[in-house]
Amino acid sequence: MDQIRVRGGKKLRGKVQASGSKNAALPILFATLLSEQKTELTRVPVLQDIRTTLKLLQSMGAEVVSDFAGNRVEITPKDIFTQEAPYDLVRTMRASVVVLGPLLARFGHAKVSLPGGCAIGARPINYHLVGLEKLGAKIELEHGYVIARAKKLVGNRVTFEFPSVGATENILMAATLAQGESVIENCAKEPEITDLARMLRAMGAEIEGEGTETIRVQGKAALHGARYPVMADRIEVGTFLAAAMATEGDVTVEGLNPVDLESVLVKFEEAGAEVTRAKESIRLRSNGRAKATDITTLPFPGFPTDMQAQFMTAMVLAEGASLITETIFENRFMHVPELNRLGADITIRGNSALVRGVPGLTAAPMMATDLRASASLILGALAAKGESVIRRIYHLDRGYERIEEKLKVLGADVERVSEG
Ligand code: UD1
Repeated sequence: MDQIRVRGGKKLRGKVQASGSKNAALPILFATLLSEQKTELTRVPVLQDIRTTLKLLQSMGAEVVSDFAGNRVEITPKDIFTQEAPYDLVRTMRASVVVLGPLLARFGHAKVSLPGGCAIGARPINYHLVGLEKLGAKIELEHGYVIARAKKLVGNRVTFEFPSVGATENILMAATLAQGESVIENCAKEPEITDLARMLRAMGAEIEGEGTETIRVQGKAALHGARYPVMADRIEVGTFLAAAMATEGDVTVEGLNPVDLESVLVKFEEAGAEVTRAKESIRLRSNGRAKATDITTLPFPGFPTDMQAQFMTAMVLAEGASLITETIFENRFMHVPELNRLGADITIRGNSALVRGVPGLTAAPMMATDLRASASLILGALAAKGESVIRRIYHLDRGYERIEEKLKVLGADVERVSEG
């Protein structure tokens, strides 16, 4: 198993390119199932979760041609022979439940393993199921699987109790092949939903309102193949900017529309950094020690839960105390005890963490627990004096493309080594 070794204490400086977005690419890959024709995707990040998704599509009979070096994938889901997503694949990647909508819409049935719990919270899928039922699906739960059937989905009004990202994606995809109009209310407004809607439109779907609370979809009898470039990863970009903040550096990330990260950028500014927004790039220049800054995670356009751990790390060395409140997932502070091993002073009370800024951190061995927590530990190690080793980085490889190489470009002393 690999681990990451970091010799901290260097200020990060320079420019890196954003990769394609994991959270946009995953539903987009599943959306290809809505047509039997070939779809070509570009700017696909090369990550473990993407490999898992391609494996799942192949296991159903889709023809997959990958050019990972070129971040390109071609999928032809013509000869699909099974509509089942097995436990072994779904349990490693919760996002695969969004395969339910496309399979059901195109084939009239789907059998998808329940994802089970995951490290950051219970994460049920009730909103997905209620939404599909509204479109006419009959749902049964059997032996740990969701079995969904509908001869033909019928458009309807679907109002979510909470703007869930995955449920919005699932219902949006299902509605593109339903009969008649669907009106989806209290939708998630994340940029990844907008990217999915654009991709579906490229496949011939009729959609309006993505990025707002209400999405309207006119169902079509069939969709066709498309060529589509996946959007940039705003969380990856935010992670590099947080690294600049934590090390008092000066980093530019290219390839992202800054609007997608605005709620994070204003918080970096509040913490004292100078942020320059260009058309397709963001520069963060530290002005010395950060000022303590509170955040509360919220659905988009609020502060993203996927940036909470990294922002917290940037506040560990700030002057004063920051209150970090997590409202999306119930168990998303697993990085806290690890950061405290570096000398951070963080106390958890319910769904808030009080971060009392300390003047310095010292290196320590750490253990990654989930994807974004892993990134925050690397940032902590970059800011700490001495050599830290982070274990269980397979979490990191699920969501960050070549992170150590990109950090090296920014001057970090970091390497991937095999355990033992
Ligand atoms: C997606 C992202 C994840 C991000 C999250 C919130 C992907 C692959 N993952 O996850 O990185 O952290 O959005 O921005 O895009 N919930 C229910 N019932 C449901 C669905 C959700 O109770 O049927 C709850 C969840 O437990 C959670 C909240 O709603 O507390 C938000 O979850 P949701 O927006 O669905 O997150 P995901 O789509 O799983």
